[in-house]
Amino acid sequence: MRPNHEFKRLPAARPLSLTVNGRPARLNVEPWVTLLDLLRERMGLTGTKKGCDHGQCGACTVLVDGRRINSCLALALMQEGRAITTIEGLADGERLHPLQQAFIEHDAFQCGYCTPGQLCSAAGLIAEGQAHSADEVRELMSGNICRCGAYPQIVRAVTQVMGLPPESERAHAPIVTGTVPG
Ligand code: FES
Ligand code: FES
Repeated sequence: MRPNHEFKRLPAARPLSLTVNGRPARLNVEPWVTLLDLLRERMGLTGTKKGCDHGQCGACTVLVDGRRINSCLALALMQEGRAITTIEGLADGERLHPLQQAFIEHDAFQCGYCTPGQLCSAAGLIAEGQAHSADEVRELMSGNICRCGAYPQIVRAVTQVMGLPPESERAHAPIVTGTVPG
């Protein structure tokens, strides 16, 4: 029979090279570390938030080679050679990204916990070029949950940056079902 300690041996950390917000980085990373934990715990980039930690809320959204992903579902070691953009890398120096500016103008957050993920997701969405209306923005950002319910303002901010015409206030009225008493 094999001694117990043989079963406790964990896989060794492996070298990883990637670019984060334009800066090359080399680290040794254990195979089970997610990209989210690498960014937050190893690199100090805590702008990317951990919400559900299993792909359901979008708080952890970052851009990998320009494409938006849930970083809680991506293993860090799978990102060898890739370019990661987090919320800390969205602005151009002191100049805010147009989406950041629009979020401020439209008051598109309350607690702000979902906001880094919303912004990275919106940047990815615009790069994808698949959304051509507010409804499509809503649909294609439906993986980004906002518990404060700032959705109308978020959609206004994103559509403004996309150059889409503003929706009427009526479009944001709550949907009421059932019979109205006469
Ligand atoms: Fe990644 Fe919720 S923390 S989707
Ligand atoms: Fe609070 Fe979106 S602003 S969760």
